[in-house]
Amino acid sequence: MAARPVFRFVCGQCGAVTGKWAGRCESCGEWNSISEEPAEQAPGIAAKGVKSAHRKIAFTDLAGEAAPPPRAPTGIAELDRVLGGGLVPGSAILLGGDPGIGKSTILLQAAASLANLGKRVLYISGEEAVEQVRMRARRLGLSGAKMELAAAINLRDIIGSLEAAGDATLVVIDSIQTMWLDEIDSAPGTVSQVRACSFELIRAAKTRGFAVVLVGHVTKDGAIAGPRVLEHMVDAVLYFEGDRGHQFRILRGVKNRFGATDEIGVFEMGEMGLTEVPNPSALFLAERRGNIAGSAVFAGLEGSRPVLVEIQCLLAPNPSGSPRRSVIGWDSGRLSMLLAVLETRCGVRFNATDVYLNVAGGLRISEPAADLAVAAALVSAAYDTPTDPGMVFFGEVGLSGEIRQVAQAEARLKEAEKLGFDSACLPRRVARGNRPLAAPAGLILREIGHLSDLVARFAAPGAPAGSGKPATQASSARGAVTPTSSQAGAAAR
Ligand code: TYD
Ligand code: MG
Repeated sequence: MAARPVFRFVCGQCGAVTGKWAGRCESCGEWNSISEEPAEQAPGIAAKGVKSAHRKIAFTDLAGEAAPPPRAPTGIAELDRVLGGGLVPGSAILLGGDPGIGKSTILLQAAASLANLGKRVLYISGEEAVEQVRMRARRLGLSGAKMELAAAINLRDIIGSLEAAGDATLVVIDSIQTMWLDEIDSAPGTVSQVRACSFELIRAAKTRGFAVVLVGHVTKDGAIAGPRVLEHMVDAVLYFEGDRGHQFRILRGVKNRFGATDEIGVFEMGEMGLTEVPNPSALFLAERRGNIAGSAVFAGLEGSRPVLVEIQCLLAPNPSGSPRRSVIGWDSGRLSMLLAVLETRCGVRFNATDVYLNVAGGLRISEPAADLAVAAALVSAAYDTPTDPGMVFFGEVGLSGEIRQVAQAEARLKEAEKLGFDSACLPRRVARGNRPLAAPAGLILREIGHLSDLVARFAAPGAPAGSGKPATQASSARGAVTPTSSQAGAAAR
């Protein structure tokens, strides 16, 4: 009698396994992501009941030689930065992102660049026919690159062909959700297929010594397994983000066994594919207009890189009693906290106004250091008074309204000066050792200890809002030329 196949329920978002179906995954909270799949039959050691011969593993101490892994730079600097210097032989990289964001484009460009550097690159597309990839390459002017291209989804065939590719530097699998292993009894894109195919590819990469990049689409409906299912299996996880309405894209490293995480690479999507943006601040501030109430420039940090962005706030009266809070690019919980602190500690009321907060350009900020800039934008909107257009803001706000220190103040200040700003509003230094803040000489620092210090600048009639300049300079400060896009760009250059 044949054994009844065993089924289990798997979340397509996070890969959690449950014994019964549920509308919402208890592990990641995603709705409608759980589906039934045949259980993988793992040959457990105990299950076999056979005492097999084993080899002893060798233990060693911590103080051994640890040479940095060799790397193959792709020649695309923004990508290499996120990878930690280039591709590590034998490593597996997951590139996740929404469909249509540009994953295939950046990988085609990286593959071509690597091939032009004389490395062997194999690009296996499971989504597009060879003709389609060729067409894209032609459009991007990459047709001359000596890379090897194939359209395939049968993983047995792929692994078999890769056996002979021992000298390859990079193998691209676009995408892992289209790959299919015949011994797994479920459709491509299911958790078991995605896991099994990745396992085989990663094993091939480790034994053959090439780097493998797996493309993984992020899916909202859970119909196919998302990249999160694979995050623990690979050495590095990169996410390609961006808003399709904006042309810039951010490559964000969220895990990297061979380098720093939280690095970002910034690209601009145009006619000729993705171009690198070596100075993102100039890009994010390009369309900023000074002297508008509700706008403040945040001196942020993305990985090791300072990035200046504009925070915009709009308030609209809403007497209904249930005002709206709408946030793009920042955490809505954090906005609620800031509004509560401003109301309770500083007496600025938002209870009859809708609050719309936007990080201009489509960047997503997760740093608490943005608190002070968001507060400045909110207070500026509330008092209908622009912030000093030459000033940047950074600092974390605590629940009692105190402004707390944040990391890397110097790097933020340096970037601000580089882009033509003349002052900065930042947390008051507390005596911590004797090291003074190495601020650029051209920058006026306005250190504040409490959010009410910020509010006072706007509330005081005639004061240059948010400005660190003494009142006697008020008029000139107000009329001062603003470092708008052209100036910011010029300063950056
Ligand atoms: P693609 O790399 O196919 O996205 P993914 O692999 O993540 O699904 O990118 C597709 C989008 O990029 C598509 O909407 C068109 C746009 N695009 C450009 O704007 N310029 C270009 O040169 C290329 C190749 C694509
Ligand atoms: Mg694609």
